[in-house]
Amino acid sequence: MLRGIMFNNVFHKWKRSRQFVTRILMSKKYHYGFINSVQKIFKEFEKQWDENDITTLDFSKWVTCYKAKVTIVTIIGQPLYNLSSFDSISKAASEYIALFAFLVFVPKCISNIVMLFGFNTVKKNSMFLNGTMRNIIQNRRNEIKNGSTTSFNLLDLLLVSNSSNDSEEYIEGEQPMDDDEIENNLAESTATSIETISNTLCFLIYNVVKNPSILEKIHAEILKIFGSDINSTITYETLESCRYIDAVVKETLRHSNPVPYNLRMLDDDERMDKFDWSPGTWFWIDHRRIMNDPNHWKEPTKFNPDRFLSEENGGTDEFTTYQVHDLMIRISHK
Ligand code: HEM
Repeated sequence: MLRGIMFNNVFHKWKRSRQFVTRILMSKKYHYGFINSVQKIFKEFEKQWDENDITTLDFSKWVTCYKAKVTIVTIIGQPLYNLSSFDSISKAASEYIALFAFLVFVPKCISNIVMLFGFNTVKKNSMFLNGTMRNIIQNRRNEIKNGSTTSFNLLDLLLVSNSSNDSEEYIEGEQPMDDDEIENNLAESTATSIETISNTLCFLIYNVVKNPSILEKIHAEILKIFGSDINSTITYETLESCRYIDAVVKETLRHSNPVPYNLRMLDDDERMDKFDWSPGTWFWIDHRRIMNDPNHWKEPTKFNPDRFLSEENGGTDEFTTYQVHDLMIRISHK
């Protein structure tokens, strides 16, 4: 479990996983694959609504199921494996996160006692993710060895990363990942991407519905870029020109961030803010407070995507989501 990124405090192992995984997740080919999968899956759901005459649904339940399916396709490559039980995957994903949160935040003397009574159920469920992944990875490694072409999902791309040095994701001086490392990273990415995205989408829809003028602007942008044909295809390039929708996503992450806190551990002596900190000190990074600090944001409690379109409103249209994240880290270090 300590060979991934999210919950790993062994620096060299964390760095290796981070290089492999983020290079793939940030690559254009992964994004192309992702955009195709998202649309294909949405069309399948839409067809089911039509066939079953569904006109209303519980968005929070639906979006978790939708995101679980998108996650499985884009991380493990579901067309190759018939993983039909999305409910159990999302349950295992949230218990996997809960397990780590429990181990990180609850003092050892208490967690050890809880471990003795009943904790095994949570542990077993969260392990389901790791166990399922292991078989899939071994099968897929064999298939690729026997000539199967790779797809643009995280598993396939991790399996072939650094096996030859001719790809743009090649990382100098690193051996390819072994099954154990891939398993840890797939389980983590699966667990951390389902609830983050589905909660973000719930917050987004809630804030947009409460602000009809924002909904109008979204409609106008969709009409301008995609036209009135509801079957038109979304491409990487058209998506990049959706600047207002991009601002709505950024404002959702600022206003209602689904991951309001983060932790960092110091690996060396550091002097900060007149204090000396020793290695091993944990730092609590308060995203929520940073993103609502009136010194940095005008009217921080207001849901206002326009702030990401104009400099004077406390945002700049040059921000990418990654830069927003980077800004949070920089401000928190001040
Ligand atoms: C709105 C949705 C998401 C939110 C709010 C979110 C939030 C975060 C946060 C707060 C971190 C920690 C960054 C740090 O400690 O430096 C992180 C890291 C990470 N997330 Fe997400 N995440 C989201 C979606 C996803 C998805 C869909 C995936 C997988 C496809 C993913 C994969 C990762 C990975 C691999 C890292 C480690 C990256 C690194 O250290 O550079 N996340 N995410």
